[in-house]
Parts: sequence; C-alpha cells; structure tokens
Amino acid sequence: MEETNLASPAQHQPPNTTGDAEITNTYSSSTGSPADDSDNSQLLIGESLIPERERKHAGTTVVTIDGLLKDPLRLKEDLKNGCGGQLWPAGLLLSRYMLEEHATDLVGKTIVEIGAGGGLVGLAVARGCQTDKPIYITDQEPMMQLMRDNISLNDLSMKVKPALLDWARPPPAEIPEHPELVLAADCVYFEPAFPLLISTLQRLLGPDTICYFCFKRRRRADLRCIKMIKKLFHVTEITKFSTCDGYNRENLFLYKIQSRQHRD
Ligand SMILES: C[S@@+](CC[C@H](N)C(=O)[O-])C[C@H]1O[C@@H](n2cnc3c(N)ncnc32)[C@H](O)[C@@H]1O
Repeated sequence: MEETNLASPAQHQPPNTTGDAEITNTYSSSTGSPADDSDNSQLLIGESLIPERERKHAGTTVVTIDGLLKDPLRLKEDLKNGCGGQLWPAGLLLSRYMLEEHATDLVGKTIVEIGAGGGLVGLAVARGCQTDKPIYITDQEPMMQLMRDNISLNDLSMKVKPALLDWARPPPAEIPEHPELVLAADCVYFEPAFPLLISTLQRLLGPDTICYFCFKRRRRADLRCIKMIKKLFHVTEITKFSTCDGYNRENLFLYKIQSRQHRD
C-alpha cells in the first residue's frame, strides 16, 4: 500500500544539495560578519561535532551543540534503516534554539518530537533544558531501535520515551493527545509524505500547543508544504535568536506553529 511505502524512510533520503560542506558551513553569529563558504570562523555548530557527509558507516558521534551541553550526548548514527539514522542540520539548529531559548521554561510541559530519527532534539532538550515530564521521541518502526539505543547510551530512560508515531496513522494513545510542545526537525523532504506530516500536525496541535518546526529547503516542492502549513496554521518565523542568525542563507528555516484556535 502507498502509505506503507512512505513508511520506508530508507528509500527517501533528503538530497544533499550542497555536498559535503552543507552541514559544516556556517550561518553567521550576530556577533560576527556574514559568513560565506570560505569562512568557517563563526561556525554555529562546531565542525568537529558534525559527522562528515561521506562517513556513512555506523558509528557514535559526540554532540555538545557548540558547548551548550556541558554533559555531551553520544548519538549512535546508522543509516541502514533510513535517513533518520544520521544527524541533519535542521535538527542541530532546532536543538541549539531550544537550548538557548527554552532552557528554563519547559517545566510542566508535555513534549513530543515527531520524525525524531535518532532522537537528537528530544535528547538535547532532556539533557540541557529543565523538564519534569517525559519527552516522547517518535518516528516510524525502522527508527525505534536507534531511538532506544540513543536513550540508553545517554542514560536518559527516566526522561525520554520512544514511541511509534507514523504520520500515516493517528498518534498512539501513549503520547499526550495535545502536547504543549511539538518538535519537528528536517521532516520536509519527501513530497508524498507532506499531507501526512500536515495531518499529524493537525491531530497533535491543540489550542495550547506550540510546535517548533525547523526545516531545510532543498526543493521547490518543500515550499509548497510550508505554504500549506501557513494556510492551515498560525505561523511565526523565527529568523534569529540569541547569538544565531543568518541560517536562512543556508536554506534553514525555523517556525513557531500554532493552531489557528491557539490560546496565548
Ligand atoms: C531527515 S530525517 C530527520 C531526523 C531528525 N529529526 C533530525 O533532524 O536529525 C526525517 C525523519 O522523518 C521520519 N519520517 C519520514 N516519514 C515519516 C512518517 N510517515 N512517519 C513518521 N516519521 C517519518 C524519518 O523516519 C526520519 O527519521
């Protein structure tokens, strides 16, 4: 069935349009000058923390998000079950945003990450932000083991729970019906899945839900997905935060998405 095919992320890798330099390239920090491909002096995310593009074999990467995590995360990366098995720039940017802007305001909030892959964003939030409720990192079946492995590798099983949330189906009962926070990084990359992603947002976002949604635009079609999201939801673009701006020039976009019935 078509939807089952969509559930096979291994077949749908986000294209790496700009090659090896893509992730290691910089977005400028607001304290620095705008960077170009030849200037790596203001790396937003430390080069050393990013897996090299050509390193496709399984391994473990140590991640501090440029020193924001005093206690680094160790993340197993393994592409054998799909593209979620490696770190992607939108996940690194969203992690940085959460650590810089939401380190202390998540107490009492229910949190669900969708399309979590290896779980970078949810694990970074669990490690570096104050939280007191379980954080659900969710993806399709092929990513479940990697999520479990990364949770235990980082000793975060008391704070982070893996769950199966396939956008082609309603969310499982175990995750909060309308979480206060939904996180989504690099989930826009496969056009036939766009309606499923959008319907998942429609199901998850209640009037009190905030979704932080970070994506890398690779194809023109990606903009159609965002256009549809803007039509259906209340969307605010975050073009800079703390010391971080210029990521739009890397085709990375960060949005705050809320239901049109949202209560502020
Ligand atoms: C490019 S990866 C991003 C992973 C991670 N969020 C990050 O930023 O590193 C896209 C993720 O979306 C997930 N995904 C794709 N289609 C999905 C679906 N129908 N239901 C749930 N997750 C899906 C993939 O399995 C993959 O983990």
